[in-house]
Order: sequence, then C-alpha cells, then structure tokens
Amino acid sequence: MTESGQPLVVVKDVQKHYGDFHALKDVNLTVNKGEVVVVIGPSGSGKSTLCRTINRLETITSGSISIDGQELPAEGKALAHLRAEVGMVFQSFNLFAHKTILQNVTLGPIQVLGKKKSEAEAEAMKLLERVGVAHQAQKMPAQLSGGQQQRVAIARALAMHPKVMLFDEPTSALDPEMINEVLDVMVELAAEGMTMIVVTHEMGFARKAANRVVFMADGQIVEEATPEEFFNNPKSARAKDFLSKLLTH
Ligand SMILES: Nc1ncnc2c1ncn2[C@@H]1O[C@H](COP(=O)(O)OP(=O)(O)OP(=O)(O)O)[C@@H](O)[C@H]1O
Ligand SMILES: [Mg+2]
Repeated sequence: MTESGQPLVVVKDVQKHYGDFHALKDVNLTVNKGEVVVVIGPSGSGKSTLCRTINRLETITSGSISIDGQELPAEGKALAHLRAEVGMVFQSFNLFAHKTILQNVTLGPIQVLGKKKSEAEAEAMKLLERVGVAHQAQKMPAQLSGGQQQRVAIARALAMHPKVMLFDEPTSALDPEMINEVLDVMVELAAEGMTMIVVTHEMGFARKAANRVVFMADGQIVEEATPEEFFNNPKSARAKDFLSKLLTH
C-alpha cells in the first residue's frame, strides 16, 4: 500500500498528438495519495485528454504515466488490470441503459474482479446507500434523474476499489438543483481520503475540497497553486483572463 502523501499518479514529460495537433505539451503532474487536484482551464486546453491518457483511453506520444509506481502499458492484460485501478466518471453518465441500477454497479466486480453475485450485490447496496440512491436499486437508469444517475456512476466506479478517481466535468450536464447532490458525494469522498483528479469549473468544490488547482491552457499546465492562491491571486495572464470570464457568467 502506498502511504498517504506518497506519489500515486505520476505524469512525466507527456506529449500527446492527434495527427499534427499537439494536444498535451510536456505535461508533468504528480498527484499524491489522498490528494484532491482540481483541473481547470478553457475549452480545448487538454483537460479531458489528460484524464483520458491517465487511464489509457488515449495513448500518449511520449513520456510516461505511472499509477502507484507501475507504468501504464500501452495495451494487453496488464493494462486492463491497471485501468481497473482508475475509476472514471464522465460528464454523461454512461450507465448501461438496459441494466438495472444494481446490475450497473455489480457488473464490473462480477466480470472483472470475479466476485460472487451475492457478495457484489451486498457491496453495491452499501455503495448505493452511501450515495443516497439505494431505494432506486431495481430501477432502470432512465427512471432516475441526472443527479441520481451520476451518483450511481460514482458508486459503480467505487465498486472496483480504484486507487484514484478521475472526474471529467461530472456536473456540467446537470440541472442546477442537482449539481450539489453530486458535489456533496464528491466532497465526502475527498474527506474520506480518496485520491481524486477532478476537471470542474465548480469553484465552490475546488475551495472546499481541493488541495491543489492545476490550470491548463493550450495543452500545457500553466499554473499550479492552492485554491486560495489560484482564485485570489492568479499569477499568469491566461489564468487571470480565464477567471474574469468565469466570474462574470
Ligand atoms: N480524438 C481527437 N482527435 C483530434 N483532436 C482531438 C481529439 N480529442 C481532442 N482533440 C483536440 O484536442 C484539444 C483538447 O481537447 P480536450 O477535449 O482535451 O479539451 P478540454 O480541455 O477537455 O475542453 P472542454 O472544456 O471543452 O471539455 C482540442 O483542441 C480538441 O479539439
Ligand atoms: Mg473536456
């Protein structure tokens, strides 16, 4: 087990090209165990690309990414194993539409971790309880609100016992009244010591839960600071410009 405060996710000298478009430019980022890092920046700056490379939904052009001391292989069985250590929650909920809420949460543990159905279901119910949707367990995803579906997506990711959770704008597709119910679950997760990388423009969340804010622009990490430093006293012109636009919307 990695000790709290030890490097868990290490992104080193990463370059990513899509054809001749340079999407990640020499990105270096270390996230320690138990740390919550919020990634913020303008549209197209590479935030989603960074998340997707961290669990190898995208390959990288050069550099390395390691999780808990193990470098991510490009493909194969070892990759499937390491990918299971990274939980991912996207903007769209990505639940399996034709499976119940309970089945959505038990599928990975049964098929990938080889758990017994009864054991997987018992744990899934605890997780659904924790995110406040246990009473919906037998329903289909479409019968739930967006906020509830997103909380199920979080429970589903947690059921795999990930070492780190990646969130890519988890609340940006939600109606305003549902945003807080999802953020509350995330704040709780953070307080429990989960290592988290969160792409979000929710500054309330960043101030409440983040240890660090990483600001990206044009495929680069331009600035890294505590939330207080970043929001009160951004250093770069890009960050100042970005924040001024965010605040006036
Ligand atoms: N599969 C792809 N092929 C080609 N270009 C891509 C691909 N995916 C992303 N890009 C480009 O890479 C850049 C970074 O995209 P990315 O989705 O990482 O940005 P982002 O910071 O997440 O933006 P947003 O805030 O809009 O979600 C963009 O210019 C985008 O057009
Ligand atoms: Mg994105």
